[in-house]
Amino acid sequence: MDIKRIVEKRVMEEVKKYPPFNRALIALSGGKDSASLLHIFKKILPDKEILPVYLNLGIDGFSEKSEEFARIQAEKNGLKLIVFNVRKELGFTIMDARRVYPKVCSVCGSIKRYLLNKIAYESGADIILTAHHLDDFLIRMLKSTLNAEIEELVRFKPYLPRNDNLVARGRPFWRVPESFISRYAHLEGLSFITEKCPIGMKKNIERIRKAIDILAVSENQKNVYLSSLVKIARKLEENVVPFEKAQLKPCSSCGFLSSNVTCSFCVRVKKIRSFIEGKQ
Ligand code: FES
Ligand code: ZN
Repeated sequence: MDIKRIVEKRVMEEVKKYPPFNRALIALSGGKDSASLLHIFKKILPDKEILPVYLNLGIDGFSEKSEEFARIQAEKNGLKLIVFNVRKELGFTIMDARRVYPKVCSVCGSIKRYLLNKIAYESGADIILTAHHLDDFLIRMLKSTLNAEIEELVRFKPYLPRNDNLVARGRPFWRVPESFISRYAHLEGLSFITEKCPIGMKKNIERIRKAIDILAVSENQKNVYLSSLVKIARKLEENVVPFEKAQLKPCSSCGFLSSNVTCSFCVRVKKIRSFIEGKQ
């Protein structure tokens, strides 16, 4: 089977496992992975309504360029890109956030997760689709295992059902290696940004990526390792995590479900804004 069919088939097999949905939000970053995901969805599921969303985080010399690629990708599929500009909407950028939170990557990740959920919820989307692939899953799950981050390990799943105002999430590329997606994007002639986020200081992530490349002699072997990590995560979830699971309650400030009285998004936004005001 050629690479294009393998990638499309794996996505189709995943999507078939989801409960029925009509309107899907696809998070576009301007890169090859989300460009491929959008392209495949329009190709194999043309009846679904798709909302392509780009979050402009205000990263100098990078966000504007990647937004332009995201717009091209949406328009090529006959869709209008929805842009959420963090600077305009929230009054700060990820560059500002970095001054408050030097390890900004994980903070940025949780801000993005929150905003995508808010946009999806307010626009009536049934599901949020992101382009995390096999290598992302392996890296995240191995990192969580090595650091004994049990909640993290258990939480990173290919599908999360809807929970009140938390919209369902699907990661249909989770069994597709990054190298397959790269080839797919090239074979389909997709336009995408090749640069990576310049402020991501993910040295430890890169080390884990290299270690996986040494350990796995083939893409198939990566899938075997991922299955093993999933097995461990399931066992932990059955036997350990339920006892520790925090009850989700509406955030005291925004109302979205959270494990804290005030969700981490609201707490961080407040802290970043007061930092900026203090500097003015
Ligand atoms: Fe969030 Fe780079 S995209 S830190
Ligand atoms: Zn909140």
